Amino acid sequence: MKPTVLVIDDEKTFRIVAEEALSAEGFAVATASNGQAGLAAWQREPCDLVILDRHLPDTDGIAILETMTRESRERGVDTLVVVATAYADVASAVQALKLGAFDYLSKPLQLPEFLVTMRKAIEAKRLRAQVRQLTGRTQAAMGDLVVGASAAMQKVIDMVDKVAEAPDTTVLIQGESGTGKELIADLIARRTVGRKDGPFVEINCASVPENLLESELFGYERGAFTDAKAQKRGLFEEADGGTLLLDEVGEMPMATQAKLLKVLEEMTFRRLGGTRDLSVNVRIVAATNKELADEVERGAFRLDLYHRLDVFHIRVPSLHERPEDILPLATHFLQRFAARMRKPAARFAPETERLLLAYDYPGNVRELRNVIERAVILSTKDVIEADCIVLSGPARAGRSGASLPAPLAFFALELDPAGKPPDLEGLERAYIARLLAFAGGNRTAVARLLGVSYPTIAKKIADYGLG
Ligand SMILES: Nc1ncnc2c1ncn2[C@@H]1O[C@H](COP(=O)(O)OP(=O)(O)OP(=O)(O)O)[C@@H](O)[C@H]1O
Ligand SMILES: [Mg+2]
Repeated sequence: MKPTVLVIDDEKTFRIVAEEALSAEGFAVATASNGQAGLAAWQREPCDLVILDRHLPDTDGIAILETMTRESRERGVDTLVVVATAYADVASAVQALKLGAFDYLSKPLQLPEFLVTMRKAIEAKRLRAQVRQLTGRTQAAMGDLVVGASAAMQKVIDMVDKVAEAPDTTVLIQGESGTGKELIADLIARRTVGRKDGPFVEINCASVPENLLESELFGYERGAFTDAKAQKRGLFEEADGGTLLLDEVGEMPMATQAKLLKVLEEMTFRRLGGTRDLSVNVRIVAATNKELADEVERGAFRLDLYHRLDVFHIRVPSLHERPEDILPLATHFLQRFAARMRKPAARFAPETERLLLAYDYPGNVRELRNVIERAVILSTKDVIEADCIVLSGPARAGRSGASLPAPLAFFALELDPAGKPPDLEGLERAYIARLLAFAGGNRTAVARLLGVSYPTIAKKIADYGLG
C-alpha cells in the first residue's frame, strides 16, 4: 500500500510542487488549501503524513497541530505531522516540535531536503509500528506473568529467586497437573543469571514416542539409522548456554533414564551413531505431577536418577491449598481473555466471586483458566454473572468437609446445644467462624464474601478470638 500524505498549504505553487515530488516518490497525495478543510479531510480519513503550513489564512497551523496530536492519541491513529515554517522562524519550529510535530521544514522549499524528511518520516512510522508489534509479541510470549498473592506461592517465588542465583543446580518441580509447573520453570529460566538470555528449551517426555525421545534429546549423526538422512542436533545442544526443561520426567522410559543419568553426571554425550563426545552447558529443570519417590518404589523410576534430579526441590501447591489466589488469578485471566476477545473490560458479580471461591479446582489453575475463558465467551455484559460460570464438578466438597454452595448451608451454624437462641454477637461470631472454615482460613475471601474491608474482618476475627 502506498503511504498517504496530506499537504495543507494556502500557497498554490507549494501544493503543486509538493504533490508532484511526493507522487514521484510513490506517495498517494491529497491537498487542502486551508486549515479547516485540511483538518476535516484528516478527520474523515487519517493519513500517514501531514505537511502543515504554520501560517494559514483561516487558522493557525499550530492549533491544527494540537488538534491532530490530541485526536491521534484518542483515536489510536499514527499520523506524523511535519510543519512548514518560514525560513529562520526557529521559534515556531521549536514550538511545533514540542507540541508533537515529527519534524519541520523551512520555506522556501529545498526539494532534496524535503524528500529526505519525507522518507525519514515514513521510515520512523514503519519502525514505530514494528516496535508496537514486537512489544505485543514479547508481552504475549512472556505475558505469562505469575500471579501469586498467597503466602504459599510467595514461598515458591522465593525459591525461584534462590535457585536463580545457582545457575548450574538441577531443579525438580513437583505439583499436581495444572498448578503452573511450566510457568515456574520458565520463570527460573528467565531469572537465572548468566542463562536468562540463553535458550529455554522444553520437551514433554510423555508426549514424545519412546523410540524418538533419545534422538530428540541427544540428536543423531547421518546414517545412525535408516531415516537419518542428515545430522540432527539434539535438544541438549539446542539448550547450550540456557535451560532445558524435562517436563513429565516421571514418564521417561527406563532405558532413556539410564542415558540421561550418564549425561547429567558428565555433561557430555554423543549423538546417536556418533563417536565424538560433545559437552554442553545446560541447567536441567525437571517437572512432574507424580511423586517420584513413589515411582521409585514401584520400580518405574531409577533411584539414582531421582537423587540426581532432586537437588533443589520446588513443590507447587495445588490451588485448593491457596484459595487466596483464586480471585487474583480469575481477574488476571478475565483481563486477558476479555482483551483477546475484544469484550468490554469486565468484572465479576459478587455472586460469581462466591461461586469461584467455593469450588475445589481438581484441575488447578488450568481449570480455573478454562472456566474464565468459557465465562468470557458466554457473557454478553461487562459484569460476569454467576450463570456464565460452568464448573464441571461439585463445589468444595470432600477435601475441606464443607458442603456448599447452597446459600442456606451457611446458616447451618453450630448453636448452643441447650437451645438458647444466640444473641447477635454470638450469631456473628458463629457465622464468621463458618465462613472462615469454608474459605480455608482465607480472610481476604471472607471479607469479600461479607462485603466488608479486610481490616474490618481481621479485627472481628481477632475480637472473637477466631484467628
Ligand atoms: N500462578 C499463575 N499465574 C498465572 N497463570 C498461571 C499460574 N499458574 C498456572 N497458570 C496458567 O495455568 C495454565 C497451566 O499451567 P502449566 O501448564 O504451567 O501447569 P503444569 O503444572 O505444567 O500442568 P501439567 O502437569 O498438566 O503439565 C497455564 O496456562 C499457565 O499459564
Ligand atoms: Mg506442564
